[in-house]
Amino acid sequence: MAELTLTSKDPIKLKADALVVGVVSSDSGITILNPDALPADLRAAITSAASDLDLTGTAEQVRRIPSVKALAAPVLVLVGLGKPAASFTPETLRRAAGAAARELSGVGNVAFALPAADIAAVSAIAEGALMGSYDFTRYRKSDAKTSAMTTKMTVVTPLARSKEAAAAISRAVILAEAVHNTRDLVNAAPNDLFPSAFADIAKGAVKGTGIKITVLDEKALEAGGYGGLINVGKGSSRGPRLVKLTYTPSRPTSRVALVGKGITFDTGGISIKPAKGMEAMKSDMAGAAAVLSTVVAAAKLEIPVAVTAYLCIAENMPSGTAQRPSDVITVRGGKTVEVLNTDAEGRLVLADGLVSALEDNPDLIVDIATLTGAQVVALGERVSAIMGTDDARAELVTAAGTSGEQFWPMPLPEELRAGLNSKVADIANIGDRFGGMLSAGIFLQEFVDATPWAHLDIAGPAFNESGPHGYTGAGGTGVGVRTMLAMLEARAIKA
Ligand code: BES
Ligand code: MN
Ligand code: ZN
Repeated sequence: MAELTLTSKDPIKLKADALVVGVVSSDSGITILNPDALPADLRAAITSAASDLDLTGTAEQVRRIPSVKALAAPVLVLVGLGKPAASFTPETLRRAAGAAARELSGVGNVAFALPAADIAAVSAIAEGALMGSYDFTRYRKSDAKTSAMTTKMTVVTPLARSKEAAAAISRAVILAEAVHNTRDLVNAAPNDLFPSAFADIAKGAVKGTGIKITVLDEKALEAGGYGGLINVGKGSSRGPRLVKLTYTPSRPTSRVALVGKGITFDTGGISIKPAKGMEAMKSDMAGAAAVLSTVVAAAKLEIPVAVTAYLCIAENMPSGTAQRPSDVITVRGGKTVEVLNTDAEGRLVLADGLVSALEDNPDLIVDIATLTGAQVVALGERVSAIMGTDDARAELVTAAGTSGEQFWPMPLPEELRAGLNSKVADIANIGDRFGGMLSAGIFLQEFVDATPWAHLDIAGPAFNESGPHGYTGAGGTGVGVRTMLAMLEARAIKA
């Protein structure tokens, strides 16, 4: 990841490869923000040539022009922030910084002179810049890797020398690292990221953090009655894993359990998916990846909230040893499930994870999963869903709002429970034809008792198959990490 620093120096004199400045659109044309960042004649030249440059100041629009020696930086980058505002929302700044950083991938040293008069703005610009500079080069030839790197970024702010700004930068770096690591895991090819490999990566990730890790392999899972993981995983030659992570700060204000769906590849199993689009199912472990990164970040940030986390990892494959539609399985804790569709596997592994989480008596359980295609139908590719108990759902909606991630509350209608009735077992794994996202939530609810619980369905937003936007490029997005961290940070303050 690029190195990030602060400066209060005059942007005109900043030695960088490119200087980023904000632009807004108004009825009378464009306005360049932070007027001190540019010499008056350059500013005037840009403003009068705005229409020839097709520069409108629309949010996330990026234009690169030569600075013709008017600046120390040879290239000036104009990024749109949309309509003029007395104070821009953090998310507007995050997206603008991200869009610019994304466009400038390969430019070694970038300075950002965006409106950064308060700590929230400094944080947002730093986060956006770091997240936007992400590049997935693991599978490229080595010479292509280094040429595509931004190595240094600088945020220009009058607060550069304050302790608060320094703390904001440290936090932004930890947070962006968490997002980058989540994206790397999601983007990894499933022939590299199979269950035991994922567990090994988790072991590596917690080194030096004080987080305790235990990995249950198929034998241990069998012995412990984790029938969800065992049965979903048994079609694959690479067995399932349950990874438990425990972060225990010295005086925790609260105890939270996180549970992540970690299907390293979802073929659907015997209820096999169509070939078209199946490749995106390498992202079906995005929930577990987000949970892993969140716990590691929580430890690095020393958030005083105790976290136990469960990564429910398996590969859903069709084979002679795979589970069949109509199989009845017993999940952790003893409930039986009739598997009517082997493609509804996420809820089976999560059932084991939720029951395990409950055993630690947490104050709150949050699960996160690429759970249903119905989520994408309902909310699209960029907005994730939150279901759960009233308090927990509201808490996570608030956390998402603070973090800048787009999450929206969804109900768990009681009447959908009847659709999950099985003729032979305690519950079936598929329900009514309509409201598939909600039925999945109702299924999970069966395993959490009365504990405050929130369920995050990130099926669409976890993996970007459309165009890049803001600080989000193609592929894994890392969605959920910032919301879960914001929740933990809020709980640290509350008590
Ligand atoms: N992993 C999928 C859900 C998914 C779909 C994630 C699209 C990301 C993008 C999940 O395991 C699944 O297959 N769900 C089924 C459930 C159905 C069989 C009840 C679905 O949504 O079609
Ligand atoms: Mn599936
Ligand atoms: Zn799945």
